[in-house]
Amino acid sequence: MIIFSGVQPSGELTLGNYLGAIRQFVDLQNRGAAAYYSVVDLHATTVEHDPRRLAEYTRMVAKLYVASGIDPERSVIFVQSHVPAHSELAWILMCLARTGELNRMTQFKEKGRGSESVAVGLYTYPVLMAADILLYRTTHVPVGEDQKQHLELTRDLAERFNRTYGETFVLPEPLIPDVGARIMALDDPTKKMSKSNPNPNSRIGLLDPPELIERKIMRAVTDSEGTVRYAPEEKPGISNLLAILSLSSGIPIAELERRYAGVGYGAFKRDVAQAVVEALRPIQAAYAALSDDAIERVLADGAERARAVAEATLAEVKARFGY
Ligand code: ADP
Ligand code: NA
Repeated sequence: MIIFSGVQPSGELTLGNYLGAIRQFVDLQNRGAAAYYSVVDLHATTVEHDPRRLAEYTRMVAKLYVASGIDPERSVIFVQSHVPAHSELAWILMCLARTGELNRMTQFKEKGRGSESVAVGLYTYPVLMAADILLYRTTHVPVGEDQKQHLELTRDLAERFNRTYGETFVLPEPLIPDVGARIMALDDPTKKMSKSNPNPNSRIGLLDPPELIERKIMRAVTDSEGTVRYAPEEKPGISNLLAILSLSSGIPIAELERRYAGVGYGAFKRDVAQAVVEALRPIQAAYAALSDDAIERVLADGAERARAVAEATLAEVKARFGY
């Protein structure tokens, strides 16, 4: 098993990023997979960004990877722009991709909502993502439901290259996590929790102090029924809090429903907040103990290891493509 996945340095990571992605990264590593975990800064600049904060967010994401349990000795932690092969392979794949298939991608339409025209980089984002994955001969990609379409494109491009220029790329499979694949926003549980939502009360930041976590969860939107039960369509707020409590505590949702029968929302929310505080406590402590120098060393070493593999794949691709 070879794993590749990435997180954009576009803000402070949320509880959604942790429960939906980073926890799986740690599990896969601990199950013995060779894993490449990238901070995908080339992707983060496909939308408007603050150039003064990009380096800071990049370091923050890398530190949170390590603080969450990704071991830089076993897994390769690196910054995408430190490995130029990503941009180079993306160019080659752009010569294979068709405008028709990119037009069918939904993410650039969602992110560019309301505007007639978007950055070309946002439009070709899925091709860069294909390059990210294919460079490492990745067999499995842990992705959220939202990224399934991009992985299909990755497979199509790999297959097209192999058919036309000779067997080169491995076709990757998606690994979609079971429960808690989607943590919803606290202020509007019909939308996913995101680090780029402008309302800070919509999300739990991985570095939020305990009082702030409690305040945000106590204010989370629920309903007026007064019963703690799991019904995502009918009761999205309470169901989201149940999913968060279940993932943070390891207690199955059905068992939580039994425990909270007859308990009011206030007491339930206090327990959710407590479980989140406890789940994040070791991550926050590990984060605080990591210096900027230490993470820079991790990233320098990661870039070197990633470059060795990526450059070997790229050399083979270039030779087949005729460069
Ligand atoms: P964001 O939307 O917070 O900017 P990214 O696009 O950087 O997140 O996604 C990083 C990873 O986190 C992806 O694997 C994505 O599927 C996962 N992820 C993001 N938001 C959530 C969420 N609310 N629930 C579960 N997983 C999420
Ligand atoms: Na995003």
